[in-house]
Amino acid sequence: MKYLIKLFSLMLSVSGMLFAQNLKFIAMSDSRGSDLGVNKKVLSTLVEHMVKTQPDAKFVLFAGDLVDGSKTNPDQTVKELMNWKEVMSPIYNNPNMVWPKIWVVVGNHEVQHPKDEENFRKIFPDVFLNGPEDEKGISYSFDYEKHHFVFVTSDRWYYGKPNDSTDDKRDWHYIKNLDWLENDLKEARERGVSDIFVTSHEPAFPIGGHLRDGLPNLGLKLKLPLDSTRQWYLNQRNEFLRILKAYKVTAYICGHEHLYGRESVDGIYQIVAGSSGAPLYYFNPKYDEPKNPEHEFTYEEAVPYYQTLNYFYGTGENSQASKDFVGVRAFEYVVFDVKKNKVDVTTYGAFPKEKTNTVLGSEVKIIDKFIIKK
Ligand SMILES: [Fe+2]
Repeated sequence: MKYLIKLFSLMLSVSGMLFAQNLKFIAMSDSRGSDLGVNKKVLSTLVEHMVKTQPDAKFVLFAGDLVDGSKTNPDQTVKELMNWKEVMSPIYNNPNMVWPKIWVVVGNHEVQHPKDEENFRKIFPDVFLNGPEDEKGISYSFDYEKHHFVFVTSDRWYYGKPNDSTDDKRDWHYIKNLDWLENDLKEARERGVSDIFVTSHEPAFPIGGHLRDGLPNLGLKLKLPLDSTRQWYLNQRNEFLRILKAYKVTAYICGHEHLYGRESVDGIYQIVAGSSGAPLYYFNPKYDEPKNPEHEFTYEEAVPYYQTLNYFYGTGENSQASKDFVGVRAFEYVVFDVKKNKVDVTTYGAFPKEKTNTVLGSEVKIIDKFIIKK
């Protein structure tokens, strides 16, 4: 009898492995703040809530701008990233999650100095080294069971001519290695993966103050027709979207906008998981940093951006890209429960204290729930 029970439980676990389809994972982004580069209170609160309430989640994706970073002192950025890892330790120490527990991609705040990328690779060595030649360890992909995940950087450093550091500069706001991405997704589909999730820092459809510099990088004071540089950025973004669509990507997960927002545009689901502590913005065309009034758009100024970016937009303020747009101005994390024919998405968030954009003003609770059909 004892052997029969053992045999039965072995059969159950083998069949569980064979037919395992479901996967639960979590997305977060943008936790920069003033406690050694991190908004410690907000990030810790979200992490504690997640560890307590999502015991079956396998890992966390983090879509960049972990910390403030520094333009002049790369050692400061290193200290901040080490501090971030400390704040995230309840996840790193969570025995329910699988290696490496948190998958990261850089944001623009992690790439402000020529030494930053190399330092980032050293701090986060647990990634696959299958990315493009010039982005190894920064862009990468992997399969988890039948699910394919791609992390591709939208913010890098341009090293210019060898031995000429005067040519070095930041190189942000676009996906550079689109051939690598397309080939990666093509091979994934040929392997028969059940779904594909792509993560990068910058949104293809900005929802807040970054109308000027998400992936399209159109700049302030939009001039039409676009000059050749702006047109090139727009072409890169449009080609990126074409690739996501061609390989039926289940969701594009990003941050950069310090807001939560989700929408489908032309068959692509974009999910902005954009504040796990970074100062909350407002939805476009409004911007919330009074120190930067030049970043404010009026609705009339925003309309040419909507048109150029191929948004649906309505009349009045806070018009958004898609008919199914839902946005919440809250700190949040997003739970993806991937099933055979659909993904159940549940977003947990906390609202800011009145008249603040960095301080918690409520408990963490469900702020959105929707289904992505596969
Ligand atoms: Fe950013």
